[in-house]
Amino acid sequence: MDDRRTFLRFLAASPLYAGLPWAAAALAQAPDSEPLVTRAQDALDVFDLEKVAHKTIPVAHWGYLMTGVDGEETLKANREAYAHWQLRTRRLVDLSKLDMGTELFGVRYASPIFLCPLGSQKAFQAEGELASARAAKARNTLQILSSATSTGVEDVVAAHGGPLWYQLYTSSDLNVAMKIVARAERAGCTAVAVTVDLPAGRNTETLSRAMRADTRQCAACHGDAGPGALSARPMYQGIDTKGLLNTSPALTWDFIKRLRDATRMKVLVKGLESGEDAALAVKYGCDGVMVSNHGGRATETARGTLESLPEVVAAVKGRIPVLVDGGVRRGTDALKALALGATAVGIGRPYIWGLGAFGQAGVERTLDVLNNELRLAMGGVGARTVKEITPAALIRRA
Ligand SMILES: Cc1cc2nc3c(=O)[nH]c(=O)nc-3n(C[C@H](O)[C@H](O)[C@H](O)COP(=O)(O)O)c2cc1C
Repeated sequence: MDDRRTFLRFLAASPLYAGLPWAAAALAQAPDSEPLVTRAQDALDVFDLEKVAHKTIPVAHWGYLMTGVDGEETLKANREAYAHWQLRTRRLVDLSKLDMGTELFGVRYASPIFLCPLGSQKAFQAEGELASARAAKARNTLQILSSATSTGVEDVVAAHGGPLWYQLYTSSDLNVAMKIVARAERAGCTAVAVTVDLPAGRNTETLSRAMRADTRQCAACHGDAGPGALSARPMYQGIDTKGLLNTSPALTWDFIKRLRDATRMKVLVKGLESGEDAALAVKYGCDGVMVSNHGGRATETARGTLESLPEVVAAVKGRIPVLVDGGVRRGTDALKALALGATAVGIGRPYIWGLGAFGQAGVERTLDVLNNELRLAMGGVGARTVKEITPAALIRRA
């Protein structure tokens, strides 16, 4: 019995296990024999928060959070890409003034790690986006608010206190999209990130299975007037929400050009993975690009985002910031992305694990854990600033 426990503990601590937290496995996972942490500050890594959130979040919502698409190969690739690199250490560098500060569009943040846009956060915890915003404020962290927010942009801006970025699904009616952009700008958002990686819908198989396992009356919330319905959300009252949270299938670079002309906000495209598209983003006047595959929730059997990052960085040639997200679960992951040319690194599911587990304190703990790990990794490769994290910090695993 003791042997078995020791072995399970060894497995749980092994990078192989940590590298496999994808949805199907997480749903099927047997309850851990270790007790769950009961306070946010006791979480040693983001997986401690994941375990608590798995218990607190209703099964269908957990499925929505964890799902990839089809057989979840892209979801897996996001994690695996990080395991292909090892850190190349440097010693005897004076680290007494190690600084993780990162500037984006003239605003200085405490670290290059930011909160990705994730929809419907009240499905994970009662305060939803407001708790995430307060945590982001407390940790001087960039937050990008999802189009699918369960809270109005004005309230989230107020809770964050600093400039927020807004993520846009263009919807099948581009005029509606423009109205929403104008509202986000009026509320004080300083950038809009247009998500372009879902042009044709998707097959979220794990979510469908989880919905079957949920015995609650979903219609009570997801019916027309329920809090799960878009039309009932503060962001969309008075707007015809049909097709609102989709990318228009007719979307082309022309819309980016129109948007560029219609707003004073910075414009980014979220969901690029190729050098050709990155070059077009620069050509059409984008202020930044986000290398993302929607956390493995868009195109199936695509590359991990870390694998796509170098060709985007090469095409952009330093002209605009390149942000990346997908599968970041450790500070060392963030360091690897920065070494391969990212300006900043986004996290999605990990901060929602913190939110679901402990609300604002959980999101703060997620940020503290990852920032601390990044700080240690920077020390390991002798980087005193984010700018000093270069490709020399990495070596490809043999
Ligand atoms: C539950 C969930 C909801 C999401 N909602 C949005 C969204 O509304 N808009 C968007 O652009 N991306 C959305 N994403 C993608 C994230 O912004 C981000 O690209 C992804 O979560 C990063 O991968 P990670 O979860 O492995 O860290 C969502 C992801 C998840 C898991």
